[in-house]
Amino acid sequence: MIYEIYDFKVRGDHSGKLVALEKGHDLPFDVKRVYYIWDTDAGVIRGKHAHKKLEQMIVCTSGSCDFILDDGKSRETVHLNNPAQGLYIKHNIWREFTNFSKDCVVMVLASEHYDEADYIRNYDDFLREVDND
Ligand code: TYD
Repeated sequence: MIYEIYDFKVRGDHSGKLVALEKGHDLPFDVKRVYYIWDTDAGVIRGKHAHKKLEQMIVCTSGSCDFILDDGKSRETVHLNNPAQGLYIKHNIWREFTNFSKDCVVMVLASEHYDEADYIRNYDDFLREVDND
């Protein structure tokens, strides 16, 4: 399995909805960093990297986009369009994301601080890393 979809508990009613993600309850790792991405042109392809160690929970809090995930053996596209769902990705998964709707906001919860040394930005290096994992 190269990813998991988490269905978060939604609280609220017609007055509005709320999702709370708490350390130790709703996430499979302790969060050290949160970042978000928006105002991305539809045709842009972001990502194009894997991580050696990092785990991430990715939530499309507004709009929609596609995540293309690759574990070195197979490739799958996951369409994200629900703020009540999280896409959980472990290390050694090549990811690209694209097809951003105009209102798309992607929030990423990460298990580590930002570290460029944790990135694998070359696809052939990624395949070698997967072979040695
Ligand atoms: P990158 O992770 O390559 O973006 P994406 O995968 O969304 O295409 O990061 C883009 C730039 O932002 C790069 O110069 C590194 C910087 N950056 C930080 O400084 N801190 C962070 O937490 C992240 C995710 C990126």
